Amino acid sequence: MAWGHSRLKNDNDIADSPDLHPRRRRLLLFISCIGVLFLFLLILTGFCIMITVLLMHPHKPRYRLQDVQITQLLITNAPLQSITADNLDPVDSTLNSDIIVTLGSYNRNHHLDIYNSRLVVILYYNRKEIGGTYFVPFYQESQNTTVIQRVLYIRDHPLRHSEAASLNASLANNAVHFQSKIAARVQFKYGTWKSSWHRWFRVNCELVLSSFTAPSGSHLLFRKC
Ligand SMILES: *[C@@H]1O[C@H](CO)[C@@H](O)[C@H](O)[C@H]1NC(C)=O
Ligand SMILES: *[C@@H]1O[C@H](CO)[C@@H](O)[C@H](O)[C@H]1NC(C)=O
Repeated sequence: MAWGHSRLKNDNDIADSPDLHPRRRRLLLFISCIGVLFLFLLILTGFCIMITVLLMHPHKPRYRLQDVQITQLLITNAPLQSITADNLDPVDSTLNSDIIVTLGSYNRNHHLDIYNSRLVVILYYNRKEIGGTYFVPFYQESQNTTVIQRVLYIRDHPLRHSEAASLNASLANNAVHFQSKIAARVQFKYGTWKSSWHRWFRVNCELVLSSFTAPSGSHLLFRKC
């Protein structure tokens, strides 16, 4: 009967002080505002935790050179330095080449889309950079594999005498050794939300290509990443 008692008491209170009623309404309004705010914060926190969990543990996108083909390659003698006795390995050749790069990009995530905002493949000979190519930026849905191709142009790259000689020999032997680097700058996308920050992913590989003079043409023979 406590309920009946308090109700009776309240009725009396109201009768005693006429401005308690609006004050009580204001208090109720205040409490419900706090309640709504609290609920909103709770939902926001939950959403943030979900996004964080998704983003802190995203699968790295996987990048892989599927093929590298030399379509043409020319080593020309173009002495850039005078050959002197104290310079036994002068820079006396230049390299020009067109190389087709076929790159596979795989987004292994189940819910996250990725945006490859920058994707570059750089080739090295004898650990020195000889050329690179940018790919057009593209979106990739979850679980998607995209294969893209681009021509990498090597233009007037200076070679030392020993480098030109060993490149000549490896072309004749059908085993041209290059090194490669894939660098990808990625943004993650969940629904309509896209991360404002980027992450870089890099893959370094040792490559062996067959020569363009080989009977079956130039192809990637060996890859170690
Ligand atoms: C990957 O996405 C691209 C672009 O949306 C699409 O053209 C391609 O067919 C997809 N590949 C697979 C294997 O689903
Ligand atoms: C490499 O081969 C090219 C063309 O076959 C030739 O002109 C050049 O002299 C060679 N360079 C060396 C260092 O053997």
